[in-house]
Amino acid sequence: MMKKNIGHTLALYPTPLVVVGTLVDGRPNWVLVGHVGIIGHDRVMVSLAKPHYTNKGIKETQKLSINIINEELLPQADRAGCVSGAKEDKSTLFQTVYANNGTPMIADAPVVMECTVDDIYETEGFESFICKIDNTFVEEDVLTPEGKIDYHTLKPVLFQMPGYEYLRTGDVIAKCMSFGKKEK
Ligand SMILES: Cc1cc2nc3c(=O)[nH]c(=O)nc-3n(C[C@H](O)[C@H](O)[C@H](O)COP(=O)(O)O)c2cc1C
Repeated sequence: MMKKNIGHTLALYPTPLVVVGTLVDGRPNWVLVGHVGIIGHDRVMVSLAKPHYTNKGIKETQKLSINIINEELLPQADRAGCVSGAKEDKSTLFQTVYANNGTPMIADAPVVMECTVDDIYETEGFESFICKIDNTFVEEDVLTPEGKIDYHTLKPVLFQMPGYEYLRTGDVIAKCMSFGKKEK
């Protein structure tokens, strides 16, 4: 097999798709984001192009919500990725509920993380917000009896950039460590 070097291509897909909510000038704004990541066990990263309207709100309030998207929410979520809040009021795209700290969250999202900005990592053209998770709100129908998030039921929508597509969460292959763990 011969691998071809295709340059410094970003190849870390698929990613879970989220809608980030924040208050901009006191009004909820929603943006579709595929570039999210995990940092440790209590922080996540949201990478946003600098000119987005959302960035202004996040920097003003230091707060945002990260709403996991399922297939039901996908049409409105897609809209949140097609138009800027600078051009069109997106505040009514989703039914809004507010966290105790005032962060707007999508009422119908199965899982929402309410976050506070910890740091901003700047790269050319982008601001990546390092966010501390303050609270995670979960619909009961996507919780296991043990109180864990059940991703089989939730089926988060995934995103891949090269084909610019939304993907469905797939099947279970195996339990983690079931291949590698050697019993004594
Ligand atoms: C599938 C999809 C994924 C996107 N992912 C990101 C992303 O990770 N980061 C980003 O800055 N913009 C992303 N966008 C673009 C923004 O959602 C879009 O430019 C939006 O209109 C910006 O809204 P705002 O100006 O109200 O913040 C994505 C758009 C789509 C359709």
